[in-house]
Order: sequence, then structure tokens, then C-alpha cells
Amino acid sequence: MANPVTVVILAAGLGTRMKSRRAKVLHRAGGKSLVDHVVHTALSLAPAERIFVVVGHQAAEVRASISTPGIGFIEQTEQKGTGHAVLSGRSQLAGLDGYLMVLYGDSPLLRAETLQQLIDTETGGSAAATLLTADMADPTGYGRVIRDARGNVAEIVEQKAATQEQLAIREANMGIYCFRADLFWKHVGELGTNNPAGEYYLTDMAAILTRAGHTVEALRMPDAREALGINTRVELAEVDGLLRGRKVRELMLAGVTIEKPETVTIDSDVRIGMDTIIEPFAQILGTTTIGENCRIGACSILENATIKNGVEIGQFTLVGASVLEDGVHAGPFARLRMGNHVGAGAHIGNFVELKKTKMGAGAKANHLAYLGDSEIGARTNIGAGTITCNYDGKLKNPTIIGEDAFIGSNSTLVAPLEIAKGSYVGAGSVITKEVPEDALAVGRAHQVVKEGWAKKRRERK
Ligand code: UD1
Ligand code: CA
Repeated sequence: MANPVTVVILAAGLGTRMKSRRAKVLHRAGGKSLVDHVVHTALSLAPAERIFVVVGHQAAEVRASISTPGIGFIEQTEQKGTGHAVLSGRSQLAGLDGYLMVLYGDSPLLRAETLQQLIDTETGGSAAATLLTADMADPTGYGRVIRDARGNVAEIVEQKAATQEQLAIREANMGIYCFRADLFWKHVGELGTNNPAGEYYLTDMAAILTRAGHTVEALRMPDAREALGINTRVELAEVDGLLRGRKVRELMLAGVTIEKPETVTIDSDVRIGMDTIIEPFAQILGTTTIGENCRIGACSILENATIKNGVEIGQFTLVGASVLEDGVHAGPFARLRMGNHVGAGAHIGNFVELKKTKMGAGAKANHLAYLGDSEIGARTNIGAGTITCNYDGKLKNPTIIGEDAFIGSNSTLVAPLEIAKGSYVGAGSVITKEVPEDALAVGRAHQVVKEGWAKKRRERK
């Protein structure tokens, strides 16, 4: 790469206005932690080994919340300002050539396109640094951008240190910078703490570089909202809504029909194929992927599920980490918990619960069943009310049923158990022993008929 970029994401702060025991960047919007969003965006600008997150508060948890492997971490044990945060990584960062970009871990709305524009402005000109700015109706709390006669940035003045005249400036510093790495590391030692907060301000780099005879440019964003950092739970909810709105729009433009899009909840990492229809109030979460031509019923919740093509999920159906092959029907009112594999064209009907179960192609469990730790062969029919007794109070035991078998309604299958292919189990059976191939197993009390019994009872007394 001609102009390699190193990205440093500041995420060491606690964020007191969240009123939380958890570090701010750990809070979630659009289905993942705020800092994970920023890392994800950074990945379209730099490879993982050139992305670093500055961690301090709850460092271990912040590290764990990042889903991409290979990201670097910088420990900032004491939060002594944004300049100090970058300085904490000196030993890891100073040897990296090219450009140094600084982002905040609490600004998940920033788009890669905007950041690329910042990089292009910086790398296309001769400035020592370029920063993102925006004109704000109310810039209170932000650093103000002081421009010189030629329109370059002379300095950034923080709210607390600004004069009345400077406070009237509406152009605010968004806190996102792209520095020439060599000049940054050459001059960063000049940062001091001579300011009202007694912190090392990264913003002072503008004046330092200018004083050294370099120019600093600003890229004005048309809308400051994209750079907004989250400070409160109200803003967290707003950003969550914006991220989800963006996601739903992206999916619709890519060929997914979403009915009443304002009612659905779709996490950022979800993938959905063309001509799939998502009904109102569906929640599609985590790393769920859905193929083409599927229908996801109203109020269904899918989390970390893998749904292939042409699958129908009825209303009010829950699917966890399970794989559903082409043409499966599941629900309405079904619950597929973790670890299931449902073969092509299989049917899972209402009030059927599956856990760690493999259903062969074309197998059916259409009503009221619990199948746990089991393997059901292709085309086998599981009658209504069938229960695998997979738990003996101590251990989970497997139930294995072959192909083309027929399990009569209300059967109780006591595991560990094997029912061979082509066999029948009579309705209402309690099956505790192996059933051989092509056999009929019946495990129930014989029916007794007493002629005239009811009439006699009515006539008694
Ligand atoms: C900063 C800028 C200000 C800009 C604003 C935009 C400075 C001095 N000021 O102010 O000009 O308008 O951002 O939002 O930079 N952080 C650390 N370690 C620290 C301090 C901060 O990791 O020691 C992280 C925080 O977790 C946060 C980010 O850096 O994510 C910004 O810090 P914050 O203290 O909020 O800066 P602002 O006062 O908002
Ligand atoms: Ca802030």
C-alpha cells in the first residue's frame, strides 16, 4: 500500500453520563458493542494489524467485545486526556509509517466513506494533518476550530479555555483526525498539560504543527450527526434506531422485502438474500444468515441461525444457533434451540421444541413434540405429542431413529434409545428398548371394554 493508514480508536473512558457500571463503549447499539462498530468501520480502511484500540476502564471486557481477531490493544491505565491516550501507544505505533488516524470508540455512526474522504484529503495534499469539522447550531462542549487568513486550521480551542469571541464560532472539531505519522511522532512530545483540565489534549497538535511551519486542514462534514458520540442512554437508543434504520434500508435496496420496516429489529451483521420476505415485528439477531426466497413470519426471533434458501418460518417461532436447509418449514409457534440441523424440506410444526437434534431431509414433526439430543432419519414421521426423555436426572442421553420410521402420537421415547429404519411405534407407547428394522413396537396397556358398564352406573340408585 502506498499510503498505509494506522487507526487508533480511543476507548479508555468510563462515560459517567451513561450512569452505568459498564464502560460506555461496551453498551450495545444495532446488536453489537459501540467499539465493535467502530472497529468494523476501521477494517475497510486498514488491515486488522494496523488497527489499535486504547483501553482503560474494563479493559478486558472491552477487548472481549471486539469480534475481529488480530486487532492491537493499547493500555491506558490512567485517563489523562485524548493526547495521552495516543501517546500511551507510542511503542506500538511510532514505528508504523504512513498516516495515523484517530477515532473514538463511542461514535458508531461514522461511515467508512466519510473516513475515506478524510484520508483522501490528507494524502492528496501537503498538510501535516486533516481533521473532521462541522458547523453546528449549538457547538457547546466541542472544541472550536480557529482558521487563519488562508483558511487553514491555526488551532483548536476547547470550550473551557475559549474566549467569548471564540465561543461564537460554530465550526466544531469532531475529534477525528488523520495525521502524517512521521510529523505526529516528531512533535507529539510538545503536548503539555497547561489547560483548565490539566490533561494532554490531542487538539493541541493543530497549533503545534502550525507553529512548526506545517499546515493543518479541515474537512467540513455537511452534517455533524454522523460523528456524534454517545453520552447518555437516550442517545444510545437514538443511535440504535439510526443504525437499524440504515441496516433495513440497505437490505431493502439489496432486494429483501421488509413489511412494516419500522417494527423489525435486525442486527448489523445479519445477512439476508434476495426475494426473502420479513414480516412485521421479526427480530433477526447476531450473526444470523438467511438465504433467498425465504419468509420469516411475524414476531419470530432468530439469533445466530443459518437459514438456507426457500425456508418458511411461521409466526412466533424462535430459532437459535441452528442450521435449516433448503425448503424447511418451521412454525408457527415452534422453538428450535441451539445445535439443531434440519434437513432439506423437513417440517417442524407448532409447539415443537428441538434441541441438539438432527432431522433428516423430509422428516416431519408437525405438532406438540420435544426432540432433544436426537437424530431423526430422512422422511421419518414424528407423531403429535412425542417426547424424547433425554435426561435421566444426571446425564443427557441420545435417541436415534432411522429413516422412513413412523412414531405414533404421544410416544414416550426413553433415551438412550435406538429405533431402526422402517419401523413403527404404536401411538401412546413408552419405548425403553431398541426397536429393530421394519418392526412394530407397542408399549402400552391393553384396552379393556366392559359392555353396558356406563349405562349401569347411570341407573345405580
Ligand atoms: C474531544 C475534543 C474536542 C472535540 C470532541 C468531539 C480534546 C481535548 N477535545 O473533547 O475538541 O470537539 O472530542 O467529540 O480532544 N479518551 C481516552 N482516554 C483519555 C481521554 C479520552 O480514551 O484519557 C477517549 C474517551 O473514552 C472518548 C474520547 O477519547 O471516547 C473523547 O474523549 P472526551 O473526554 O469525551 O473528549 P471531549 O471532551 O468530548
Ligand atoms: Ca466526548
